[in-house]
Amino acid sequence: MCGIVGCKGNMDLRKYLINGLKDLDYRGYDSAGIAFILKEKINVYKFKGTVENLESKIPNHIDSDIGIGHTRWATHGVPNDTNAHPHLSFHQHFAIVHNGVIENYKDIKDELIQQGFEFKSETDSEAIVNLIEYYYLQNNDVLKSLFLIGQKLKGSFAIALLHESEPDKLYFYKQASPLLIGVSNDFNLLASDAAPMIKLTKKFIDLEDGQYGYLTSTNQFLFCNGRPIDIVYSNKEPELLVKDLNGYPHFMLKEIEEIDIVIKRIMNHYFYEDKFHFDSKLIEAINECDHVTFIACGTSYHASLIGARYFESLEKNTSVFIASEWAYYPKFLGNKTLYIMLSQSGETADSIRCMQMLSKLGAPILVVTNTKGSTMERNATYSLLLYAGLEVAVASTKAYSAMITTLALLCEACKNNIDVIDDLNNVCKSIRKIYFQKEQILQIARQIKNSPDVFFLGRGYDYEMSLEASLKLKEISYIHSEGVPGGELKHGPIALIDKNVPVIVFISDKIVALSMRGNIKEVESRGAKTFIISSRSLKHEGDAFVVDDTPIYLSPLLKSIFAFYLAYFVSLEKGLNVDKPRNLAKAVTVE
Ligand code: M6R
Repeated sequence: MCGIVGCKGNMDLRKYLINGLKDLDYRGYDSAGIAFILKEKINVYKFKGTVENLESKIPNHIDSDIGIGHTRWATHGVPNDTNAHPHLSFHQHFAIVHNGVIENYKDIKDELIQQGFEFKSETDSEAIVNLIEYYYLQNNDVLKSLFLIGQKLKGSFAIALLHESEPDKLYFYKQASPLLIGVSNDFNLLASDAAPMIKLTKKFIDLEDGQYGYLTSTNQFLFCNGRPIDIVYSNKEPELLVKDLNGYPHFMLKEIEEIDIVIKRIMNHYFYEDKFHFDSKLIEAINECDHVTFIACGTSYHASLIGARYFESLEKNTSVFIASEWAYYPKFLGNKTLYIMLSQSGETADSIRCMQMLSKLGAPILVVTNTKGSTMERNATYSLLLYAGLEVAVASTKAYSAMITTLALLCEACKNNIDVIDDLNNVCKSIRKIYFQKEQILQIARQIKNSPDVFFLGRGYDYEMSLEASLKLKEISYIHSEGVPGGELKHGPIALIDKNVPVIVFISDKIVALSMRGNIKEVESRGAKTFIISSRSLKHEGDAFVVDDTPIYLSPLLKSIFAFYLAYFVSLEKGLNVDKPRNLAKAVTVE
């Protein structure tokens, strides 16, 4: 989704804006632009295409100390130069970059057109900058105008704003879309996440919804509801936020091969000196609840399915919902429910909407996220960080493993079962073995890369992992795929099986191994080419890939490594953009 950067002060503005946009490019975008003030005039450069394209078209040196930049992921209007940000206001007094969606922009646009304003783009964002200018022309006060737009706009808007006659102030507003401020001695920064700023500062302000203000070279001024407010600073860990390929050809490959380290890091955070270290109030809340409801999207939803099984082992009733479904068809399953929301980014709009609904009711929410200071983390009753480090590839891998690991540790902590530590250490060893066997997975990828459809089959944990395997493949290889429970095959999906459809079968659990072997016969007799991914003690001759045995609850951590590599290699073999697949964004900050 859109990325915002901005800076004010003594620094290389061109370098920060361009590198900052590159650091945000993993979020997904289709056009890019910057604006800066020079001699009381706003200069705008914006183009459809890449940040590199923008870089080649802007001056080599920019003699300004205040500027904003943007990568746009089209929502309102096609990707083109005109719809790209920054947008100038009608009288050209202001320039804005915006992340979010303005729900009532049509009404605002109509009202402003009646007031004589003209619009150039199809975007909702242009309505914001013109509304600010409209108010400013009446009150001559930018802060007051920002306060007023907060009352008028409906939807989500993180914005950075330049005012041509105030080159000493970089204005901003945060409402329901992410925006952070990076603080230094003689410059101040802002961005959609910490990645562009972390090389320059460790000191941050995590803005809350409804907060707005401005940055000068040496100071930050924060307001809410028309009043100045005290600023709370936070520190972030640079090593977890730097975007660096470290010699790898793609972030996805790097992130897959970090999974063992991530699991260890999580263990070190939540278990040391022979004891689990979780917030005692959280453990109490788990002990006292009788229902656990998970709400999440995409990969985080798939990790939630695994997490729910862990809570069942604590004899809790569980349910798992897709956030965008729950938001419109909420189910409340009693007063003694603990809500658990998983989110890599902590900024997913669908999940945040559910959180807001739950918070209004005072429901207890545990957020499990990779992003410290994110909207979800800050608004949670309890939160657990994943310590996975920045995940750049759009296809989430290490965050999935981190979620499963964290939930496994949490549930075993509730049972005070420290065997989980040995189990996870063994899993790490087994994962490292798979790193060295990836050539075998490449060979399988070569055999399925031209298929129009791929099926993944499994039962129990393997079924839930199949859903993730399927999502990963479709996201980055554009092959249609489905994850199907083995037993469901004959209730419909088998109609689609023929010699052109490879079927990848996971077998981890001995109680369903025989049934799965039966399913293999069923699809093979319809001509399907099968690839069986089994655990060592359940392997048969001819199985395509074998992983070490592990207690069944941790099997998704091993089998998913196979699935991640498979998706990666298919995408690579097809010559696709592994890290930035078409139409997708890393942080889905609009509903
Ligand atoms: O940041 P979140 O975990 O809330 O994101 C949820 C989904 O958008 C995300 O998992 C998406 O499905 C990934 N691209 C999957 O690889």
